Amino acid sequence: MLHRVVVVVQAVAAVAVVVTVVLLFTVQPTVAGSEAPDLEAGAGLFAANCSGCHGPAGEGGVGPPLAGGLSRFDSIDQVVTFVSTGVPGRMPGFETRLSPEEVNAIVEFVWSDLAGR
Ligand code: HEC
Repeated sequence: MLHRVVVVVQAVAAVAVVVTVVLLFTVQPTVAGSEAPDLEAGAGLFAANCSGCHGPAGEGGVGPPLAGGLSRFDSIDQVVTFVSTGVPGRMPGFETRLSPEEVNAIVEFVWSDLAGR
């Protein structure tokens, strides 16, 4: 009887070890309450880099409104290029200020969240 209990306990312990190791390697930490961490990062980067000219909600200011806009662009890739290059004398190019990942995150946010494209 005691021997069977020990065998069962060993089996449970072995399974627990395997499960723990598998979880260690497969479960990535997620940002609490966020389903789209890229959009959240993009929103923060937009606030820091773009809102001064385009308004905190993309409503426009020195720069044109982005909310509900971007009709001159056919694809999100064109916006990435535009934001990376900028417009001499009007809008700075961000390829020298931000990483490509950061530009992508901002444009993702502007495109889908602000402009609703
Ligand atoms: C110094 C002010 C300034 C900053 C900072 C700025 N912009 Fe602009 N932005 C402008 C101006 C001015 C224009 C209009 C340029 C033109 O069309 O000649 C513009 C145009 C745009 C357009 C094209 C809008 C359209 O529909 O024609 C997009 C998209 C855009 N900006 C995104 C961004 C993003 C994203 C950032 C932050 C990474 C940013 N801008 C930062 C001033 C700024």
